[in-house]
Amino acid sequence: MINSDKERQYWVPERRGFITNYPNFMHWKRLEEAGLAGIREPLNIYIHTPFCAQKCSYCYYRTVQGSRKSEIDAYVDALCKEIEMAAERFDLAQRPLSSVYFGGGTPTLLTGDNLLKIRSTLDRCVNVTDETEITVEGEPVTITDKKAQILGELNVTRISMGVQSLHDEIIKLSHRQDTQARALRAIEMSRKTGASVNIDLMSGLAGDTPETWAYSVAKAIETGVESITVYKTELYTNTEYYKELRSNKITLPNDDEELDYMQHAMDEFAKANYVPWSFFTFTKDDKYRHVHSPSIWRGEDFYAIGASAFGRMGDYLIQNTNEVGRYIEMIEGGDLPIHRGHRMNSMDKIIRDIVLGMKLVTIDLESFYERHGVNLPAFCKDSVDRLTKEGYIEVTDTELKMTEKGILHGDLVGKDMTRSLMEMYT
Ligand SMILES: C[S@@+](CC[C@H](N)C(=O)[O-])C[C@H]1O[C@@H](n2cnc3c(N)ncnc32)[C@H](O)[C@@H]1O
Ligand code: SF4
Repeated sequence: MINSDKERQYWVPERRGFITNYPNFMHWKRLEEAGLAGIREPLNIYIHTPFCAQKCSYCYYRTVQGSRKSEIDAYVDALCKEIEMAAERFDLAQRPLSSVYFGGGTPTLLTGDNLLKIRSTLDRCVNVTDETEITVEGEPVTITDKKAQILGELNVTRISMGVQSLHDEIIKLSHRQDTQARALRAIEMSRKTGASVNIDLMSGLAGDTPETWAYSVAKAIETGVESITVYKTELYTNTEYYKELRSNKITLPNDDEELDYMQHAMDEFAKANYVPWSFFTFTKDDKYRHVHSPSIWRGEDFYAIGASAFGRMGDYLIQNTNEVGRYIEMIEGGDLPIHRGHRMNSMDKIIRDIVLGMKLVTIDLESFYERHGVNLPAFCKDSVDRLTKEGYIEVTDTELKMTEKGILHGDLVGKDMTRSLMEMYT
């Protein structure tokens, strides 16, 4: 039941506001490193590349364009040194390694030599095995036959490509250098490496209409890639889109239209047997599930390497310094480039396991109880009752599961369940 004006105001079942992490960065402070070494649980590693071929008009990430080869090489040297230093300081080689994720920016902008150097550093310093999932994010314009060959040699498990749209007019409005033809060719080259391929689409890009969106979705399915991710286009003030929207140069679909786009995508994915394992990634025949994101959403540690990268070790959230020059300077001076952190208390961990756990569509109630000593439906009773009544979730004795309506609305379920906890405890 909605009790107050504040609650009523909140309860607009919108799909915007993607949650990247919990707690929010504004609560992080300087970090004492005590207690981070000696943990023996499974580990994941995130490696950040800030460089990109261009600045896309919608993109809010902190990225670097137009870098010279020598600058990128210096950054990669620093990445490798950070891997060595972190592995030694925190005994990382002692831990089973579930996944390595090269994210960005655009990691496929790195040269073959850069990628080989990082891989050989990982092989030397941490516990990479045949079971370790290795994902590399990329942009089609940066994938060449030679790059694809190197990715094959590195035994990359998944190439995750930002495609965004397969309609040339829409791609152009985002100021990307890709075209549909380039994207399709990059997908083909990536598949030949033996890796599985994920493509990101963005729903609600500038200029998108039901027809252009349906076209993109149909083309994406036609490629037969192993997984398709759909992000709702979020508008940020630091983007070109924001300026262009204010000066009426572009129009963006509104939230209701975007919701219809997502519904259309979900219907088409279902027909082609792409099954959701998170509320935004759909895998072919319910296979090829990703390891990295689910591992960290279920609470496994992930150590983050690179400028601005953030990770989690035990109860600590850690973020590196943002600026590339400062990052390299700190590494060269022999310091880990850690900028700030946050030690999570038990309520932080409960909230995190709800908001990030709900990204995986289902929360197993028994394992939630084992981890936190809390009966989740009883703990968030008002919200769970409301979400059940409104058709966003279904609760059984063993699990709390999003319905199709819940999946369509993204982070809404996780946010609603934790809203009163956040108000009370943070
Ligand atoms: C690091 S990029 C992926 C690789 C590569 N840089 C590219 O764009 O092709 C990660 C993804 O973030 C998504 N993204 C970027 N800006 C966004 C925004 N404003 N709203 C929603 N998703 C966004 C895009 O789908 C993009 O593929
Ligand atoms: S969308 Fe990808 S390529 Fe474009 S600026 Fe953002 S990170 Fe770089």
